[in-house]
Amino acid sequence: MCGIVGYIGDRPAAGLLLEGLKRLEYRGYDSSGVALLDDRITCYKRVGRIANLAGIVPHGLTQTVGIAHTRWATHGGVSDANAHPHLSRNKKFAIVHNGIIENYIYLKNMLAKAGFAFSSQTDSEVIAHLLEKNYEESQTHDFEEAFNTTLRMLEGTYGLVAMSADHPDCLMVARKGSPLVLGIGSNEMFVASDVSAFLGHTDSVVYLDDYEIAKVTSSSFQTKDFRNEPTEKAVSKIEWQPDSLDLNGFPHYMLKEIFEQPESIERGFAGRIVETMGTTKLGGLNLTPAELFNIKRVCIIACGTSYHAGLVGAYIIEELARIPTRVEVASEYKSKNPIIEAGTLYFAVSQSGETIDTLLSMREIQRKGGKVLGICNVVGSTIPRESDGGVYVHSGPEIAVASTKAFTSQLIVLTLFAVMMARMKDMSLNTGKRLISDIKKIPECIRNILGHAAHIESIAGKLKDAKYFMFLGRGISYPVALEGALKLKEVSYILSEGIPAGEIKHGPIALIDKTTPVIFIIPKDDQFDKTLSNMQEVRSRGGIIITIHTECPADSADYDKLKSLSDYMICVPAIDPSLTPLLTIIPLQLLSYYIARDRGCDIDKPRNLAKSVTVE
Ligand code: F6R
Repeated sequence: MCGIVGYIGDRPAAGLLLEGLKRLEYRGYDSSGVALLDDRITCYKRVGRIANLAGIVPHGLTQTVGIAHTRWATHGGVSDANAHPHLSRNKKFAIVHNGIIENYIYLKNMLAKAGFAFSSQTDSEVIAHLLEKNYEESQTHDFEEAFNTTLRMLEGTYGLVAMSADHPDCLMVARKGSPLVLGIGSNEMFVASDVSAFLGHTDSVVYLDDYEIAKVTSSSFQTKDFRNEPTEKAVSKIEWQPDSLDLNGFPHYMLKEIFEQPESIERGFAGRIVETMGTTKLGGLNLTPAELFNIKRVCIIACGTSYHAGLVGAYIIEELARIPTRVEVASEYKSKNPIIEAGTLYFAVSQSGETIDTLLSMREIQRKGGKVLGICNVVGSTIPRESDGGVYVHSGPEIAVASTKAFTSQLIVLTLFAVMMARMKDMSLNTGKRLISDIKKIPECIRNILGHAAHIESIAGKLKDAKYFMFLGRGISYPVALEGALKLKEVSYILSEGIPAGEIKHGPIALIDKTTPVIFIIPKDDQFDKTLSNMQEVRSRGGIIITIHTECPADSADYDKLKSLSDYMICVPAIDPSLTPLLTIIPLQLLSYYIARDRGCDIDKPRNLAKSVTVE
């Protein structure tokens, strides 16, 4: 949440900072600001999107040092004054901050008594004033020392970048709980919340760790820990291509990312299949075959869409590998003093790798001696770096706030894990080979579904004014229903619920009348007939039935039954039942997209949301 960019180098900073903010806008988009430094600090801030800020930053500015921020409001409403950067009283220090300063009321009172007036309601502003106070009170007038003193006074979390008008040759950076990465250029350095901010300018990066401080000049960086001990940092290479951030002709990132799924899924399984053995290999797990064999239980921890991927994964792991698997919502898990059991393998699933609830759950498990593996997309993010091993899903950058391609990539990795475990237990070589062959067909199956996007678009046009949607599925299709409902509500703001189809008669059926679209996810599996009965029940109450079903011959009894009960039908290719979520979710993603578009919603940046949730 919130995006930070800093630049120090030999090029004019304003354009680079605005470009970086635009790339980070998905992290928060209530307001934004930029501060530029020469012999003084000049600051521009605006409520709303980066475009609003860009409109007030004059062209041709020559300053080559600056910091910038895009905000997702926590403390203090959405206003120009609450936008970052925040300046100190004498306007000689500016800061941008991501996180929460928990003792800010105490600090604010202390500063107010010392004569500092506040121009915002944020917790962050105290940092700028503390910097000034500590600097002025020190004998040495040393920026770095004032920065360190200030950090010692802060309780809470921060990704923090500060600059000083008296020391224009450096930026001071600190990380505790909010990600920051340095981009190493030639005669220039970037600091940002994630690498997308400076993609295309440098591919050399240094990931800061929690409790790390960096002093960054245009040609060097020095890092140390909070005890003032120098730290060793490795320079990594970014593998994402700069053009992966472009829309490439699509009107929205969400649609682009939905259409990227054949390729992103392929990247997820590439190099991880051992065809002749009908199995898979996941090198990053850091577990020996004997350790894998001895896993008694699996526990998956995640939030939101990643949680839904975990729920599907649990079905697949239990079904194929017969290992008891449970899935926990991270925000709840970490607050319930979790019981960590020997023999359980824990997975933290996260697109961003930064979701604070998932990260804190992981740390709690590790603190109690458990082993946690990450299943993440963003390379170098905190969860993969702190986990005991894991697998990158390789979806590529996901920019739209609503997660789509990351979901299917997480599913494919969980499926590969399930197949590997199943083959170590009692799955036969032939079954393994058949599953692998079906996994390899998935990209083509998705291309087939995407080829029928116009059909889904036309259904969306007919349903867009509904006030409430119900999504129903059984077994492995129930989490797909949950994910379909989450997608629709977050991008179109329509109330929608995912419910186990068998549960409707225990209450939800009361909501159904002739205006209610009810989406059934009904692949041909062992739940098919029971789900058909639920369709009957909805039909009898007048609900509008949309079925997502797997291909069956038009003259078959199954097709007749589906047709007689459906108002609209969307077909996906037939595949092994445990893989159907990878296909049935695609029409639901498209349906949400088209409904949101037809309602005029801000699809890529839905109101009140941010992509990377780094506050609890
Ligand atoms: C929904 C969505 C969120 C995220 C959730 C977890 O479309 O994007 O529900 O799935 O915030 O984020 P990650 O996967 O980054 O941990």
